[in-house]
Amino acid sequence: MKNFIRPIIIGNWKMNLDYKSSLSLAKKINLGRSQKGIKNDVVLLPDFLPLAELSLKNKNKNIFYGAQDTSPFSSGPYTGEVSLENLEKLGCKYILVGHSERRQYFSEDKIMALKMENIIKNSKLIPILCVGENLKQRKNGQTVAVIKKQLQEAFSKIKSLSGKKIIIAYEPIWAIGTGKNISAKEAIVVHKKIKEMIVAMFKNNLPREFGVIYGGSVNVNNFKKFKGSEDISGLLIGSSSLRAKDFLKIANNFFYV
Ligand code: 13P
Repeated sequence: MKNFIRPIIIGNWKMNLDYKSSLSLAKKINLGRSQKGIKNDVVLLPDFLPLAELSLKNKNKNIFYGAQDTSPFSSGPYTGEVSLENLEKLGCKYILVGHSERRQYFSEDKIMALKMENIIKNSKLIPILCVGENLKQRKNGQTVAVIKKQLQEAFSKIKSLSGKKIIIAYEPIWAIGTGKNISAKEAIVVHKKIKEMIVAMFKNNLPREFGVIYGGSVNVNNFKKFKGSEDISGLLIGSSSLRAKDFLKIANNFFYV
């Protein structure tokens, strides 16, 4: 397993933008991203409608596209679902899975194993698996235990990650959209634990590339504190990813060194 991946900055647009605004935001981000010499990757996660057009027409080698969620099924009679195969054919490279908003509002905790199994076994997409504790769990000192349970459940149907690239996004639920943040030191402790858990779970079948990124109220004013550690491989950004100027400032300045 490679010890660290190229830094990755991910914009999760959630359900905040209409079709035209999504295209216009993507255009601005593309213009602000140089094609050459950039030492990190940017991933944009629009909703499914603009995703098709943006991903299909993408020519920027430093910008990748992905979906905000996946179906637990590969294809077939599942009304309302979008298949991974379809996303891959559009050129998507990443797939967000297990975001706390999906776990909370759509009761997805119990289908995480099926979703991860579908991604790992039926696609080449790179999963960005979200984990994190709520405020009560944090106050009770259960952060590591909660994350361990989430990882064990998500990977329960998978025996090997050999050859895969896997990203885990540590997003403390209480830090999402609240303006509250953790220190880089605290993030590093949790990220190291996550890495240890993956190593313990997959021993001889480790992924080819593996990184843990941080998410939760990251903005132009605080992103620098997460820079410079190989244990923080990137950032998952919500509201600040909706402002091209802010997002570009973060994306174009987030490196290990
Ligand atoms: P905010 O950056 O708005 O806190 O959202 C974080 C998030 O949920 C990204 O997936």
